[in-house]
Amino acid sequence: MNQGTFVVLASGRGSNFQAIIDRVHDGTINAVCTGLITDNPDAYAIKRAEDAGIPAEVVPYRTFPDKIKYEDALMAVLARYHPDLVVLAGYMRLLGERIVDAYTGKMINIHPSLLPAFQGLHAQRQALMYGTKVAGCTVHFVTHDMDAGPVIIQRTVPILDDDDEESLADRILVEEHQAYSEAIKLFFEKRLRIEGRRVRILPDS
Ligand code: GRF
Repeated sequence: MNQGTFVVLASGRGSNFQAIIDRVHDGTINAVCTGLITDNPDAYAIKRAEDAGIPAEVVPYRTFPDKIKYEDALMAVLARYHPDLVVLAGYMRLLGERIVDAYTGKMINIHPSLLPAFQGLHAQRQALMYGTKVAGCTVHFVTHDMDAGPVIIQRTVPILDDDDEESLADRILVEEHQAYSEAIKLFFEKRLRIEGRRVRILPDS
């Protein structure tokens, strides 16, 4: 049987990307990661891709005259891969409507908060500043609005009295790595069904 394919978009460190490809290699995720695409030529994720034998493509945002031209180039690269799923893993740019529309129901993102709380940048800092007692991460389908698509998986962590932004981010990251791999596994098992704003997880058959 033909395996499904996915590409990962990442802008920096790429620890989620690493966790995901580790789960591909150990057979947990039954799909092939065919490429890493990054907007940042200095992203450490590129090294991780090279080490794993995954093609890495840089579409360097700063070399394009405007966002439309950048997204034209990104669309063209994505189209070449023809992925079943596009995985945003620490990809730090807001994608325009054209790209989002082209991958409706086939593009997912991870955010380090329990959405809809604390959208946007510095989610962990926002949670600490607000004083919530739990934090966590959310894997969701991507829609036009930032950090607002149907939720696939959420995982929580407690916020401890002596937490700072770094300690909280580290604790959330452990959960991110598990949640993201689980969501991708479910996607390729065809067990995610979007019903309006809700994502139903179908039982294992
Ligand atoms: C993660 O916290 C992710 O939730 C957020 O950006 C961070 C990326 O980390 N969107 P990494 O590049 O996967 O290590």
